[in-house]
Amino acid sequence: MALHKPVMTVQQHILLEQKRFPGASGEFSFLLSGITLATKMIQAQVRRAGLTDLLGSYGETNVQGEVQQKLDVYANEALLDNLRVRESVGVLASEENERPLMVHGSSPNAKYAVIFDPLDGSSNIDVNVSVGTTFSILKRAEGSSLDDSSSWLLQPGSQQVAAGYVVYGSSTMMVYTVGNGVHGFTLDPAVGAYVLSHENIRMPAQGPYYSTNEAYRDTFPRADQEYIERLRTGKLGRNYSSRYIGSMIADFHRTLLKGGVFLYPPTSTSPDGKLRLLYEANPVAMIAEEAGGAAWSGSQRILDIVPKTIHQRTALAVGGQVEMDEYKRCLAEFGEA
Ligand code: AHG
Ligand code: MN
Ligand code: MN
Repeated sequence: MALHKPVMTVQQHILLEQKRFPGASGEFSFLLSGITLATKMIQAQVRRAGLTDLLGSYGETNVQGEVQQKLDVYANEALLDNLRVRESVGVLASEENERPLMVHGSSPNAKYAVIFDPLDGSSNIDVNVSVGTTFSILKRAEGSSLDDSSSWLLQPGSQQVAAGYVVYGSSTMMVYTVGNGVHGFTLDPAVGAYVLSHENIRMPAQGPYYSTNEAYRDTFPRADQEYIERLRTGKLGRNYSSRYIGSMIADFHRTLLKGGVFLYPPTSTSPDGKLRLLYEANPVAMIAEEAGGAAWSGSQRILDIVPKTIHQRTALAVGGQVEMDEYKRCLAEFGEA
């Protein structure tokens, strides 16, 4: 009787995937191990948050004008500390820091910029609802200046060499892509390793849910209002149900696995959309496309947007093929956001 079932850890998987990057040697997997280690540290704190002094606000406001939670600050430091020691990292950009950090920017060995939202969905921390971490990795553009972080960071999402997220839900799960399919790993808490549990995730072409903050619906652009009406009234051949958690990563994770669409259109209070292009929209857009779905802003494919600033916001609609085809039809009929 076999007592042991062979497992594939995320680290083994990355080492195999890395063979696709000529010249990447071990550095890319070492970089990603910084993310896996940091997210294990974050999940350990998330799991114990009610027992320690880590709930509640830190007492500071971040660059986005949002009140920082203690876990936002902890998660940010865990990622910065684990990534800054990796020599292949040149620039670190966090949603929580006004300016990017040049770490080994002038070293010829520094090739990658790592961009992250350390804790997504922070309004859900205190109430024991899923939160997440996102990451996006860009390679230093050919000919870009070694000490100018903008030239590393202001590249369209189509240039991402890897993207992913961790969702701290009923289990902790990491989902990532290096442009060769989307793979999901569940943290085995007994072993402390992310183990392959969802190989080659494909987003259903059509799903049962739409996910948006309905409270703002009257202030959405006309195309988005009409789109939601079509979903609700069976125009796509089914009556959609709604689900909205308020942690983009958790809402996206469900959309990826079960299908449907997640929408955060412009609103009267966030006329450019609320979500951030670099930290939030780009990583989920790369994963959605790799899994057979699509991601669109009010006017174009998310991954084609050339960022002007690192904290820029965007409207986001991300979902399966059927939902996104209809979304584009609505934009064409009713005008862009
Ligand atoms: P963050 O916690 O990183 O600031 O992100 C919060 C975002 C996102 O996770 C979520 O989709 C959205 O805010 C929810 O906003 P509303 O409360 O306006 O629906
Ligand atoms: Mn966020
Ligand atoms: Mn955040």
